Amino acid sequence: MKPVSDQTLAQLAAQHGTPLWVYDAATIRARIAQLAQFDTVRFAQKANSNIHLLKLMREAGVHVDAVSLGEIERALQAGFTPAQTNGAAGLVFTCDLFDRATLARVVEAKIETNCGSIDMLRQLGPVSPGHRVWLRINPGFGHGHSNKTNTGGENSKHGIWHEQLPAALAVIREHGLHLVGLHMHIGSGVDYSHLETVCGTMVELVKNMDHDIEAFSTGGGLSVPYRDGEQPVDTSHYFELWDKARKQIEAHLGHAVHMEIEPGRFLVADAGLLVAEVRATKQMGGNHFTLLDTGFNELMRPAMYGSYHAMSVIAHDGRPLDVERATVVGGPLCESGDVFTQRDGGVVETRLLAAAQVGDYVVFEGAGAYGASMSSNYNSRPHAAEYLVDGDASQLIRRRQTVAELIALESV
Ligand code: LLP
Repeated sequence: MKPVSDQTLAQLAAQHGTPLWVYDAATIRARIAQLAQFDTVRFAQKANSNIHLLKLMREAGVHVDAVSLGEIERALQAGFTPAQTNGAAGLVFTCDLFDRATLARVVEAKIETNCGSIDMLRQLGPVSPGHRVWLRINPGFGHGHSNKTNTGGENSKHGIWHEQLPAALAVIREHGLHLVGLHMHIGSGVDYSHLETVCGTMVELVKNMDHDIEAFSTGGGLSVPYRDGEQPVDTSHYFELWDKARKQIEAHLGHAVHMEIEPGRFLVADAGLLVAEVRATKQMGGNHFTLLDTGFNELMRPAMYGSYHAMSVIAHDGRPLDVERATVVGGPLCESGDVFTQRDGGVVETRLLAAAQVGDYVVFEGAGAYGASMSSNYNSRPHAAEYLVDGDASQLIRRRQTVAELIALESV
């Protein structure tokens, strides 16, 4: 279901041009409310790091995670602070390494850090004794909607290997770092059975470690429906699973612990649409191609993971639409892989869609997560504009990049 009407989308596209990202604030607020049982909802802003959306999240009581210096500065601009807010740091930095500039900023601004390697502890300890840290643990297994989004197991670079937890704790003690808690994120698009195993593993780790914790984080990974018929996750079931683990941990430690969840996709995916214009159609032998003024420079997920995004057509002249089988492709990029209808492994598919003509709009659904945030300037295509629908506060929240801005950093 599109959160914004076709009529509004057509008006916005005519006014602001295409390709255009359109987000619906009410959908984001509704997703936040679904996770209200958790003590802290920490948005993994890699899914969508627009500062205006970050501000919206902060105003709705959400905390934030950053994975780079750029994301740290975005969070600060949006008004998040590294200080404790409602029992948890407003902003946490999560990574498997420190580049030098980010380490300096984390120390200067006292940003709580979720460390995915023992080297991070060794580098932070001497320059910032007492710094508040989390340990991101790789439990030895993972899961995800694609192999590329599985972040656990020995083939993944992520986290501190579970057997090295005692070594990590030794470094924490050696440098007088302050351990806040354990964090486990095993992938993106994770199923319940893997989550159950994660909960059990978290409890066992806490029971076997000789160090207290104040909090733990379940990571992100909640799936969203992309295809018709797929069911949304039951967030209260997810909460119950983790609450059971929390009770076991509290019984072992003898005191209350704070429980965080760190979703990216869940909060923004179905709030976002990408609107593109059909600029050409072609018949190539038996294949009908619909060419759009966007490509994987905007929406990379189909080319990267074979991800499915529902699409619909808005006729520019209001005519009734027939149905046809089409291969929907990006027009502007010089890459045969620039196909929106493909499966993992680059297998091109056709889609039964309303017959689109030049001037019509094609709308991609479920594009709010890992859409704009993963877009690039490939083929020197400027970044598209982003628009937020939010009642009277509806507005352009990022203007379109100009070609002059795109080339401005280079010396001629
Ligand atoms: N926490 C950590 C440490 C993460 O690495 C991630 C995602 C999240 C939380 C949020 O995961 P989510 O709730 O969004 O599943 N580009 C891929 C997804 C990559 C996810 C990377 N890490 C995609 O488009 O599907």
